Amino acid sequence: MAGSQATVLAIDHHHHAAPVHGVSSIRVLPDEDGTKNWDRIIVDERIKSRLLSHALLALAHQQEFYLLPGALQRLVILTGPPGTGKTTLSTGLAEVVARELAHKGSTCLAEVNPHALPSEMLGESQRNVARLLDNSLPELSLRYRHVIVVIDEVESFAVRRSAASFEANPVDVHRASDAVLEGMDRLMKRCPNVLVIATTNFPAAIDEAFTSRADMVLSLSIPDIETASKIIGISLEELSGIWPEIKALAGETPLHRQLAQRCVGWDGRQLRRLPLKALSESKELALHPENLMADHLFAATQD
Ligand SMILES: Nc1ncnc2c1ncn2[C@@H]1O[C@H](COP(=O)(O)OP(=O)(O)OP(=O)(O)O)[C@@H](O)[C@H]1O
Ligand SMILES: [Mg+2]
Repeated sequence: MAGSQATVLAIDHHHHAAPVHGVSSIRVLPDEDGTKNWDRIIVDERIKSRLLSHALLALAHQQEFYLLPGALQRLVILTGPPGTGKTTLSTGLAEVVARELAHKGSTCLAEVNPHALPSEMLGESQRNVARLLDNSLPELSLRYRHVIVVIDEVESFAVRRSAASFEANPVDVHRASDAVLEGMDRLMKRCPNVLVIATTNFPAAIDEAFTSRADMVLSLSIPDIETASKIIGISLEELSGIWPEIKALAGETPLHRQLAQRCVGWDGRQLRRLPLKALSESKELALHPENLMADHLFAATQD
């Protein structure tokens, strides 16, 4: 038994639970959360539309593409700096795909934690990768009509062989990378209903042979002022759901823009946390968030 945290229980429609090795969480969609993750990420609409269209093309025409082997790899890579929404957007993609294709059957979102794979014993990593790609994911693909697999921080999974030089035994890294590539090819051939979204904030570390298998490489970037100002607005809006006194601040679009102008270079995660940062800067506010004012927000933009 390698790493118990690498195993989760999958609940299928008949409520049978089965361990799925190497998968850290499973959601069967659509569910009551709707398309929350998809909606909360503010990016250029073209990114969302390309991502969604590609997923629908790949998953709605499984039989057709089965007849054209190699035409579609069903692998998409999302790159971008930390905190730019890669993980949230990938899981959100599964939410919209599930909604669009609900008439054909359900969608399973499986999140792979790559750190759970290269095992405690380095020599095991090859076997773990093979187990995920040859057993776990194909099993899910039999149980659900559509499967979206999110592999976060894929650089630790498909290490670029020419650059691998950690304390890890390079021979082992080599073998594990080969195992990933061969395993991916088998998975794609055997399971036409599986789409893999791999994320990374370090694209240079990914094996070129892995990147070249991707149908699409999309990159997210640090929000511009327009986007940043929307993110700040959404974040205040969310807080006002709890403290209605904050509603006025949440509605003040020019304020969001002024704040955004002071947060140039902040990533989405930092922008989203700006109101919380303001609240945590004084004892009074921490105890009475309803007293939040514009000045507190401005102060929180400074470090
Ligand atoms: N463009 C954005 N619009 C709205 N919210 C965003 C945006 N980018 C990031 N966020 C928020 O920041 C948080 C972190 O996002 P997420 O984990 O998806 O980023 P990531 O790119 O996967 O980061 P990492 O590289 O550190 O894994 C989430 O709460 C997300 O909602
Ligand atoms: Mg992430």
